[in-house]
Amino acid sequence: MTFSRRDFVKTSVLGAVAGVGGSALPTKADADDGPQNQPSRSGAPKPTIICAHNGYAYVEAAYAFLKSGGDTLDTGIRVVKGPEDDPNDDSVGLGGLPNEEGVVELDACCMHGPTRRAGAVGGVRDIKNVSMVSKAVFEHTGHVMLVGEGAERFAVAVGFPRENLLTDRSRKIWLLWKEFNSDRDWWGPGIADPHWHPPAEQSKPQAELWRDRIEHLRQRAADLGIEPDFQMAAVQRVLFPPTGTIHCSVLNEKGEMSGITTTSGLAFKLPGRVGDSPIIAAGCYTDQDVGSAGATGSGEENIKVAGAHTIVENMRHGMAPQEAGMDALKRIARNYNGDMTKLRYVDMTYYVLRKDGAYAGVSLWEGYSEGHPHTFVVHDGTLRSEVATPLLKGYSQEWPPFPPIPEDLKKNSEYLK
Ligand code: GLY
Repeated sequence: MTFSRRDFVKTSVLGAVAGVGGSALPTKADADDGPQNQPSRSGAPKPTIICAHNGYAYVEAAYAFLKSGGDTLDTGIRVVKGPEDDPNDDSVGLGGLPNEEGVVELDACCMHGPTRRAGAVGGVRDIKNVSMVSKAVFEHTGHVMLVGEGAERFAVAVGFPRENLLTDRSRKIWLLWKEFNSDRDWWGPGIADPHWHPPAEQSKPQAELWRDRIEHLRQRAADLGIEPDFQMAAVQRVLFPPTGTIHCSVLNEKGEMSGITTTSGLAFKLPGRVGDSPIIAAGCYTDQDVGSAGATGSGEENIKVAGAHTIVENMRHGMAPQEAGMDALKRIARNYNGDMTKLRYVDMTYYVLRKDGAYAGVSLWEGYSEGHPHTFVVHDGTLRSEVATPLLKGYSQEWPPFPPIPEDLKKNSEYLK
């Protein structure tokens, strides 16, 4: 599908009017309960894993563990622990992008369907595998949620090592972000620096302003020692701070289900900010009598619609996975009365798994740019990546609001590739 930013607002409004007003958008949900989603002939559900795209590399091994009788939550942890341990995945765990003070703060929550237990941790520093810490909360305490220093001390008490989570790469991206915003603070080169120059007049055409901004940032990324292959990705993270996260929901052939979500949260957030990921009912919700759901994207918006819980309850009342997820997305759109000038700064992807193995991935927008759709990962015997079904046609524009990048610049530059 081709779609330009110029006309996406117009078309998206049409989509939103159809969606927000309450009448269901034409969805593929029911039709899509295709052969791959059906229970097996024995009546037992097919073991199934669904997760965010960054879990892909870890799903095959986790699926083998599940098939061999492994617990559903432990299976989910095997998936999300991969990105948590990977220093080059800057969305979670080690190497996650830090808060505005350059400190990595992690959030996670989980639900174990077979024992109907839940655990969560928020604002955790210096402990890499917060997914496992969230499980430890219900294993070792009578509580559900621990935050901040208390959560860290608990993690150390039950055996998790303290370590510095800020990798050199993430530190440099944070520094680039600090310096980019430095005309409003004391970071970046001061007037005594030979390279300092007064802010440029803003009289150039928008495309030129963007070109200058991107080139300036890329040069600064090079000066900071960010490796050439990663400089444009670093620029992207500075211009559009991501809310990288991973969610995973799991079903076994006994019908047991669990869900888990882990994140370093919104990049460059205020210290102490927690989003949806550690909030049971928002970032993750599982009731194995019905299904399991989780989220990645704009945490603040998802908290306001209790997204994961809403989806599971929708399925309890008969909606198919895709319809259930679309309804939660429509609630987000409705919170802004379908105003596309605001919704374009919001994005959300839901991962939905029903107790019989039917599943869906749905997103508010198609993706961040043409050719880069939101995807999710499924394994129900075959590992694959699928494109999430969007509620709105077009692409989100991440916060903070700059004028949109002109289409021709996006097409002609390596930006957003
Ligand atoms: N969804 C992750 C966050 O907003 O923190």
